[in-house]
Amino acid sequence: MCKSVIYPGSFDPVTYGHIDIIKRASRLFTHIIVAVVANPNKKTLFDIDERKEMLKTVLKDLKNVEIDSFEGLLIDYVKIKKKQIVIRGLRAVSDFEYEFQLALANRKMYTGFDNIFLMPSEKYIFLSSSMVKEIARLGGDVSQFVPSIVKIKLKEKFRIT
Ligand code: COA
Repeated sequence: MCKSVIYPGSFDPVTYGHIDIIKRASRLFTHIIVAVVANPNKKTLFDIDERKEMLKTVLKDLKNVEIDSFEGLLIDYVKIKKKQIVIRGLRAVSDFEYEFQLALANRKMYTGFDNIFLMPSEKYIFLSSSMVKEIARLGGDVSQFVPSIVKIKLKEKFRIT
């Protein structure tokens, strides 16, 4: 049985919603690779190293969690890592259609691929990285949504004192 899984995403930046999913996964599986996607077509606020660094800092106490990054297709990364299971968070019904499409396309390309979906706490059902960035950009308080290190990095990006 495969006990080592991959949790891919943009993490631009990591939020308490992502952390909630990672903590749940870390209790269910022996090893989790949090894989930050370097997608040249998606404009991100934080570069790949900044996103990885924030994840490393906020997840340092979870000993079975590793931070990595990848470029290109997720299935190729899954094959290189010799894994089978990809974790994704499902926040609301609205996530389902996108995730369903992604999962089926991935399985069509690689039959050895499987997804496991985890639900975050209802506290984070509405949360997204874009929402956090928008609030931070406009000078709002994001303390409820992201760890303090991420809040500081957002302030630096938007040059808010
Ligand atoms: N809590 C808070 N926010 C969450 C969340 C949670 N539990 N789960 C998802 N989100 C939010 C993210 O913050 C992000 O918000 P944003 O759009 O405001 O930035 C949004 O949901 C999308 O999440 P993410 O998990 O980062 O997905 P993505 O669509 O950016 O990337 C990949 C998903 C990495 C799996 C996908 O793009 C991929 O596989 N890329 C590689 C290329 C590839 O193989 N493509 C072919 C696929 S068929």
